[in-house]
Amino acid sequence: MKAISSLAREEVKNLKPCVHGGRVWDIINITGLRREEILDFSANLNPFGPPQTAIESIKRGLNQILIYPDSNSTTLRQTITQSYDEINKDNVIIGNGSTELIHLFAEVFLEKGDIAIILAPSFGEYENAVRKRGGRPKFINLSQDFNVEPAPILHNISGAKVVFLCNPNNPTSILMPRDSLIEIVERTSEDDILVFLDEAFIEFVDKKKSYSLIDEVNKYPNLFVLRSFTKIYGLTGLRVGYGIAQREIIDLLFKVKLSWNVNCIAQVAAIAALNDEKYLRKTERLINTEKAFMLQELKRIKGFKIFPADANFVFLDVRRSGFTAPQLKKEMLRYGIIIRDCSSFTGLDEYYIRVAIRTRSENERLMEALNKVMRIKGFDTT
Ligand SMILES: Cc1ncc(COP(=O)(O)O)c(C=O)c1O
Repeated sequence: MKAISSLAREEVKNLKPCVHGGRVWDIINITGLRREEILDFSANLNPFGPPQTAIESIKRGLNQILIYPDSNSTTLRQTITQSYDEINKDNVIIGNGSTELIHLFAEVFLEKGDIAIILAPSFGEYENAVRKRGGRPKFINLSQDFNVEPAPILHNISGAKVVFLCNPNNPTSILMPRDSLIEIVERTSEDDILVFLDEAFIEFVDKKKSYSLIDEVNKYPNLFVLRSFTKIYGLTGLRVGYGIAQREIIDLLFKVKLSWNVNCIAQVAAIAALNDEKYLRKTERLINTEKAFMLQELKRIKGFKIFPADANFVFLDVRRSGFTAPQLKKEMLRYGIIIRDCSSFTGLDEYYIRVAIRTRSENERLMEALNKVMRIKGFDTT
């Protein structure tokens, strides 16, 4: 028989796995460190972990394991709509993590050769989803300050099928103003181009409501907005995310989604988390205070250039430190700390890192280790 790989689809053969932060299990396997010895700043998650209300609902929900979960996640979809005036459950789809919805979207809308606009740098899973369908990513390099401007995007949209946007952007933590987003959604709708707007981190942003486009989906049939329970609610290991759009898009996604894609525990936990307003306020206070602390401390390290942080993570250019990002990551691991080396992002060289905002004692541990590492290169960090 000929090589099995020759029987695979061409686009699958050439597919490379997407690199992510938060690879705690890999680090455990490589270094032999124990879970409790590792402090992960490479994934941007709520440092409180899941709300206690979600944990309680998980315990109560365990008796649901003996039956199939609701394949349509109906109660969760209804609960999501409670925060919005103009959408109902038919405008919502739940995914096994928001990543599933990125791939479902590509599966529904992209055919071989279709062009998808992707910002560089941005979240890597868009490229992977596009390539898996045989689509062609067209990267738009962001300017030096990493602000996202509509002009270069609109200049390149001719012939594209979909534009992937991420607000605030990962890995830069920079927000796009609402006016700029609306300009892109309007212009693309005139040309029958879809906009996939990833708001996975928007709940960490001050005045998030004024930046989100969820309230605009009824106006724009080409707009799909993505959200996640991974980041703000810390339901990371349960895998649950959602998308909001007009019914036509949602119905198409439902056609291709796997049956029972979201397990029963993830559904009950997400419902409880959504109802926990107190937890959100507590998180908001922590992130605001700790972001100010981290920015102030990081600024004292002369070898780093710090970009404005709109989300719960900070993006840094470390080239003046004398370290590359992979070297810095390796040095930090000696202290049990994982930072995100951003070399894998299209559009970045090997000199960018990203760190999450965590609790005060954890942030202090990060800063202490960073200061020690920088002293190797002769930086005075006192
Ligand atoms: C911008 C962005 N969107 C979506 C995701 C996917 O998150 P999840 O599948 O856990 O919901 C991530 C994860 O890192 C992300 O950074």
